[in-house]
Amino acid sequence: MTKTAQLIIDGKTYELPIIEGSENDRAIDIKKLRSETGYITLDPGYKSTGSTKSAITFLNGEEGILRYRGYPIEQLAEKSSFVEVAYLLIYGELPTPAQFKTFSDDLTYHSMIHEGMRHLYDGFPWGSHPMAMLSSMVCSLSAYYPDSLDPDTNVDTHITRVLSKVRTIAAFGHQKSRGKPIMYPKNNLGYCDNFLHMMFAVPAEDYEIDPKIVKALNTLLILHADHEQNCSASAVRLVGSSNANLYASISAGISALWGPLHGGANQAVIEMLERIKAGGSDYKGFMERVKKKEERLMGFGHRVYKNYDPRAKILKEMADDLLPHLGVSDPLLDIAKELEEIALSDSYFVDRKLYPNVDFYSGMVYKALGIPVNMFTVMFALGRMPGWIAQWKEMMEDPKKAIGRPRQVYTGEKERQFVPLNKR
Ligand code: CMC
Repeated sequence: MTKTAQLIIDGKTYELPIIEGSENDRAIDIKKLRSETGYITLDPGYKSTGSTKSAITFLNGEEGILRYRGYPIEQLAEKSSFVEVAYLLIYGELPTPAQFKTFSDDLTYHSMIHEGMRHLYDGFPWGSHPMAMLSSMVCSLSAYYPDSLDPDTNVDTHITRVLSKVRTIAAFGHQKSRGKPIMYPKNNLGYCDNFLHMMFAVPAEDYEIDPKIVKALNTLLILHADHEQNCSASAVRLVGSSNANLYASISAGISALWGPLHGGANQAVIEMLERIKAGGSDYKGFMERVKKKEERLMGFGHRVYKNYDPRAKILKEMADDLLPHLGVSDPLLDIAKELEEIALSDSYFVDRKLYPNVDFYSGMVYKALGIPVNMFTVMFALGRMPGWIAQWKEMMEDPKKAIGRPRQVYTGEKERQFVPLNKR
């Protein structure tokens, strides 16, 4: 028998169905609430509101669990590759060897961008933020592939295109912003190797790719690949719910990710650590200011995790391993660890369940890899691409898909009469 919740308004009882997920998530189904009661719910920031059912990612913030399609993030980070995880997220299962080969080959085949797009970079002013370029360029793919506007289009081709081209777009933007020649993709390289080649190679020299860096990049992108209904995934779904094409929807996700409270936090963490270092490394004084709410400890806290973010744990270990391998000794890592130690024992942070999130250590690793700070959020976006695609695809394939259109509680003026300009 379906469980129900009872809601009593003005003495009248309404039965609301209870929905249970496969991991015991429970929700009260309020689809008919307004039509039956005249009331809506109010939940700014959606702290208690589920926007969809989804079979992609399971996240238990209290226990610090993250799984893609049922597979623990720790296993995927250790044993899988980004391309394999992308397939898993988008198509629901790990690929067979034949499926993997086709998918990888398709990603290789679609890596070039239209030459016309190359000239778009020339229009951006010097010093443009790479996230501004990324979101514009990804949206402009819909102009170069206008069949994407047709809802009956071959979606799989557009999926492969955006997943492949986004790395070329990101790397070209980086090279352009530094006045360096653009490096075209090479078909003999894997997904991450190819990105590193486009980012760091120069035509005059051979470029050798360190396999340990390739492995680290794969892991970083896997850790970013999806995180259920976060701000950017919700933006992708909301935009896509109006039947906007895949490229436009993903571009909205990139814009949402840019904010410092979301994916922009990895850049903000490094900037915060640099500030602390420049001020004489007074991390204790900084933490006192955080507690007085004069500062925010970037890279800490999460809407969903009320425990250590499992991604941060993997990244911290990666930083400890990779930095010595690269011969990097970064004083910012020491400051970060001091901040973490204080936070894990100070009641301000403990009581509020504030733990390091994915962005606390990812910036440190990106910095060691030679990625400039203003590219950090671009890296997050590259990783999140399969998640956005999977969320968009799941929504588009839902026979009950509806345009996203929240209600509001209006608090403005009641009706009043227009006063002409000369009488005001
Ligand atoms: N530093 C200091 N205090 C904090 C922090 C922080 N980073 N995060 C939350 N708090 C405090 C907040 O001031 C509030 O205190 P009080 O109860 O006294 O008012 C309490 O903790 C609850 O915070 P909240 O703002 O209600 O929590 P939220 O769930 O709305 O916000 C968050 C989540 C991620 C926006 C927030 O923790 C934050 O701003 N963190 C720093 C930015 C950051 O690292 N963002 C990356 C998130 S992970 C990547 C991703 O998936 O987007």
